[in-house]
Amino acid sequence: MAAWWQGAVIYQVYPRSFQDSDGDGVGDLPGITARLDHLVHLGVDALWISPFYPSPMADFGYDVADHCDVDPVFGRLADFDRLVAAAHDRGLRVILDYVPNHTADTHPWFVASRASRTGPKRDWYVWRDPAPDGGPPNNWLSEFGGSAWTLDAATGQYFYHAYLPQQPDLNWRNPDVQAAMLDVLRFWLERGVDGFRVDAIHHLIEDAAFRDNPPNPDWRPGQSPARRLIRARTMDQPELQPAIAAMRRVTDAWPGERLLIGEAWLPIDRLMVYYGEGGTGFHLPFNFHLITTPWQAGAIAELICRYEAALPEGAWPNWVLGNHDRSRIVSRIGPEQARIAAMLLLTLRGTPTLYQGEELGLTDVPIPPALVQDPWEKRVPGLGLGRDPVRTPMPWQDAPQAGFTTGTPWLPLGEDHAALSVAAQAHDPRSMLSLHRDLLMLRRREGALSLGPIMAVRAAGDVLRYERQDPQDGRRLLVALNLGGTAQPLEARGAPLLSTHGDYGSPSRLRPHEGLVIELD
Ligand code: GLC
Ligand code: MG
Repeated sequence: MAAWWQGAVIYQVYPRSFQDSDGDGVGDLPGITARLDHLVHLGVDALWISPFYPSPMADFGYDVADHCDVDPVFGRLADFDRLVAAAHDRGLRVILDYVPNHTADTHPWFVASRASRTGPKRDWYVWRDPAPDGGPPNNWLSEFGGSAWTLDAATGQYFYHAYLPQQPDLNWRNPDVQAAMLDVLRFWLERGVDGFRVDAIHHLIEDAAFRDNPPNPDWRPGQSPARRLIRARTMDQPELQPAIAAMRRVTDAWPGERLLIGEAWLPIDRLMVYYGEGGTGFHLPFNFHLITTPWQAGAIAELICRYEAALPEGAWPNWVLGNHDRSRIVSRIGPEQARIAAMLLLTLRGTPTLYQGEELGLTDVPIPPALVQDPWEKRVPGLGLGRDPVRTPMPWQDAPQAGFTTGTPWLPLGEDHAALSVAAQAHDPRSMLSLHRDLLMLRRREGALSLGPIMAVRAAGDVLRYERQDPQDGRRLLVALNLGGTAQPLEARGAPLLSTHGDYGSPSRLRPHEGLVIELD
């Protein structure tokens, strides 16, 4: 029997930008509850909600000041309980964002840690003496620009932060930290959540000897300054695997197949380690390689084969096209190819994750400098690193602010996004939204697409093709995707089930930018 999450499609909600219910311009939990039927109509199975915990919002919730409550901007715990109940009533699972690597600098643990060199919480974070010249202890860099070390003048030591100085790293080598953070999982499991997406897991533990990171010969000006160094001493350290195993023991102790997803930006061979030996790691270490692979049939075929071949025995694949940190798919490859990408994502073998707005074909929204919110853009301006363009509010209907808020939205809606609203697309059979619904319905109906094996992955010119097989009755479906703008011959005998062009294509020809699912004779 397959676990629920193997056949599921996950939808990422970025709560600040999903639906505001109280007019403060920021989305909230009651807003999500009010819009759950959109997810039901779309046909997804689970929602992963980015952080909504109390936070000073230096990194918009990824700086957690209290792991076991709701920030007032998002509502209260009772709103969360109502959201979970309403989701479960509709057959939707709820996955939370768990941020173990760091806390906010206002978290009581860090306030206590910083208070004195000898206090009981000092060792809960990563503190080091200055270098002999008074500077940072080593050359480690923050992901968001600058040194990864900030001096606490009062106590004369530096603390480490993989991200912002307002996001000090917890010391996972300390057993009390581990115990306290595992209790956070228990708190939410007790409240009925179905799983966790574990944030920035590759950063959890650093080199015990604090050795410098080596320079990166491939770094070029214009790239993120953090990439000047190869993060050999600060990322993907072997000691973090037991910490993942400890998280897994906690979730496994609850009934109902609670899901653990890991956010790890790693090459395929290293990513596989995160499944853990014999089911001790993540059920799904996020596979981001569709985001980083060039949009070419050959490169994607090669990626699919390499990823599938690397999966350990019993490991289940997964695919991601975008999220709240990365340029939207339409802006990366254009609106025509984004339809092909949707068919690819939803017909590959493995659990797909859809980011809110992808189902509408939203684009990156240019944010004028005066309106920039993302701390990364503020610290390293002008390189296009900022993530505000992909975090703008969802357009729902023909109303002021497209129905997102009655107030002033925290980020502007895209100028052309009202035309892409849910209401505007709902009854157009050729819309991006309808394509997503059709694909999700097909995936639900065809066991071949959700749970079947993938076979015969090939690229020829601009055409990428592969087959999926129904595990019950052996029927074979062909997926053929034209990644180019010219018609392509297609040798296949069978009946077309779905075309990205909306109408039924021919099984012997792919139109420009057409993707087809064909039931083979
Ligand atoms: C993850 C999140 C990102 C956040 C960072 C620090 O990469 O996806 O949004 O800024 O971790 O928590
Ligand atoms: Mg609000």
